[in-house]
Amino acid sequence: MATGINRRNFIKELSVLAWLARAPGQLAAQAATIPLQRLAAEKGLMFGSCLALKYCVQSSAYQQLFVSQCDIATPELHMKWNSLSDQPGVYDFENADKFVAFCTANHIRVRGHTLVWHDALPAWVAPQLTTAGGQKIMTDHIRKVAGHFAGKLYSWDVVNEVLDPGSHRPDGLRDSPWLQNCGVDYIELAFRTAAAADRNALLVWNENYLELSNGFGRAKRTAMLTLLDGLLAREVPIHGVGLEAHLRAEQATVLGDASYEAFLGELARRGMKIFITELDVQDVTLPAAAGARDQAVAEIYGRFLSASLRQPAVRAIVTWGLSDAFSWIAGYRPRKDGLPVRPLPFDANFQPKAAYYAIAETLKSAVQRG
Ligand code: XIL
Repeated sequence: MATGINRRNFIKELSVLAWLARAPGQLAAQAATIPLQRLAAEKGLMFGSCLALKYCVQSSAYQQLFVSQCDIATPELHMKWNSLSDQPGVYDFENADKFVAFCTANHIRVRGHTLVWHDALPAWVAPQLTTAGGQKIMTDHIRKVAGHFAGKLYSWDVVNEVLDPGSHRPDGLRDSPWLQNCGVDYIELAFRTAAAADRNALLVWNENYLELSNGFGRAKRTAMLTLLDGLLAREVPIHGVGLEAHLRAEQATVLGDASYEAFLGELARRGMKIFITELDVQDVTLPAAAGARDQAVAEIYGRFLSASLRQPAVRAIVTWGLSDAFSWIAGYRPRKDGLPVRPLPFDANFQPKAAYYAIAETLKSAVQRG
């Protein structure tokens, strides 16, 4: 295993060196940037990011940064239902296949994302739910997509964001098209169908806002643990939990406290592997000055990750992008002063920011995984 990791890093470093030879101006800064995946691997962890192929088309420097920093990756778009299919039952895997080929060629594991979600559905799904029946639509989709990639993925986010205290249900489930059309057992059915279609991928429940130690986050934690107990009692094949961790600077005070660590402990006690899956920090409420802003963002990365990594069941840190040049936060939660957002570890010129160093330091002081 150790040899495998060293070989992988060696090959990656060779390709980074080849790129540096073509970009002498970047040499000093990049040479000083230790790949986060290497620091993670030294502790038995993985480090990665989401990626959309268009970013690599726009910037070969970004592609090189990605390959050097990451040993795990999530397709930002390419495996979502509306990226795969615009007509009933007709699937186009071209971009998703390219994504997997790119990752495989660069020794990067792939997190499949995502099979069952209330969002990113093609227009044809809603009418079919009422005529053909929800369960058939859902299971056909899982068989088709998980079957297509069987044996090639590290994990699947089988269900995504299925809890919502705002739906005001005692079980905490989101009042989604899947719940409405498949019944409350749709999560169980989704995991069983995914397991039959791909016997190798780790099967993950990916969820947002679990990391918040406020009323909303605590309600989600309680609902998840209760639902997990039921699923595990029925021997449903579920292997892990993903914590999205789209953090907001203004919520710094409800991040990484003892109740969060206790929750991670409860997941671990139930045998769950834990993944931080979509980490970024929204900076809309922070000062305009880049230095002060980067420092505040870095402190949040550091605080959240050091609390997370104290739990040995946490196996990977995946950020939702690497560079501020390519972040969904620019559209999702832009700054009111119109300045570019700075939510990620590398700046828009691919140089490491304070957040990079905070992640690096947290990895260096993480406990060794078995
Ligand atoms: C986001 C992408 O980053 C955007 O480009 C897209 O427009 C919307 O989806 N939770 C998830 C991710 O699970 O798939 C979402 O990704 C962000 C929130």
